[in-house]
Amino acid sequence: MGASFPAARPRRLRRTAALRRLVAEVSVRPANLVMPMFVKEGITEPQPIASMPGVVQHTRDSLRKAAIDGVEAGVGGLILFGIPAVKDGRGSAADDPAGIVQLALRDVGAEIGDATVIMADLCLDEYTDHGHCGVLTAVGEVDNDATLERYADIAVAQAAAGAHVVAPSGMMDGQVAAIRAALDQAGYTDVAILAYSAKYASALYGPFRDAAECAPRFGNRAAYQQDPPNADEALREVLLDIDEGADAVMVKPALTYLDVVRRVADTVHVPLAAYQVSGEYAMVEAAAANGWLDRDRMIIETLTAIRRAGADMVLTYWAAEAARHLA
Ligand code: PBG
Repeated sequence: MGASFPAARPRRLRRTAALRRLVAEVSVRPANLVMPMFVKEGITEPQPIASMPGVVQHTRDSLRKAAIDGVEAGVGGLILFGIPAVKDGRGSAADDPAGIVQLALRDVGAEIGDATVIMADLCLDEYTDHGHCGVLTAVGEVDNDATLERYADIAVAQAAAGAHVVAPSGMMDGQVAAIRAALDQAGYTDVAILAYSAKYASALYGPFRDAAECAPRFGNRAAYQQDPPNADEALREVLLDIDEGADAVMVKPALTYLDVVRRVADTVHVPLAAYQVSGEYAMVEAAAANGWLDRDRMIIETLTAIRRAGADMVLTYWAAEAARHLA
């Protein structure tokens, strides 16, 4: 062995920030980020969410301002979640033209137009008094097909209020087909569907249920959301949704399902979203508040990991802040 020095030196390309930037395989751009926002009916001041420091339930007015802020930061999109003042068994407020999310969609549309993409989460759990994502049968199970009729009406109401994209998150079988048919029939052929195709029954949604006031009153969502051990099943869900007319698909949560993100990205060629959910946000915020993790580095590292796994867009509560930082 004559050579006493290694010939291959990967470190050569890591020496300066400029070299590292030149050879970076992925990047996180502001346009990749979608900001989830909560708007609550009947409040006069934004309400903080204890388990999501920095995130609030907006008033209609504060939502408008936050939407402008997101546009100025350059985020790729916004996704709205409504919290009605009154809930009932069928989630009547979800498709009421005067319901909170429809009003908020109109407000935001009037304010920002097409400056960023305006999406609406399409589900019933924020609107039902029992907190499930669909209507119930007499024995208290979520009734798939009766729920599809509700989703169809909600889609049309959200489209009428100006949503560019509707995003069904309830994991009912056939939801994309039902929504596509309803939108087309009502003349909204240009409204796109971002399907929460592979949404897992995850403990990481805990803080969201405080934010959206939608913890199920009984039982859980395991009978409709996906079981954490299954990844092949996620591919089946994604393929079904594309077949039914989904324009883009989503994996959710992100961090604990990065393998699923990668497999979906390798398998299908429609835009792929991943949702960095409330619990992912809360874990980092809590550790950072204790001085245990470097918050800013964690935000960039987790977003980079999700992009590296193959997501085109990332739904994240840090969207506006991260977009500013990355601009
Ligand atoms: C259901 C919905 C949930 C989230 C987004 N849409 C909650 C659930 O399924 O319990 C969770 C988002 C998050 O945790 O950040 N409408």
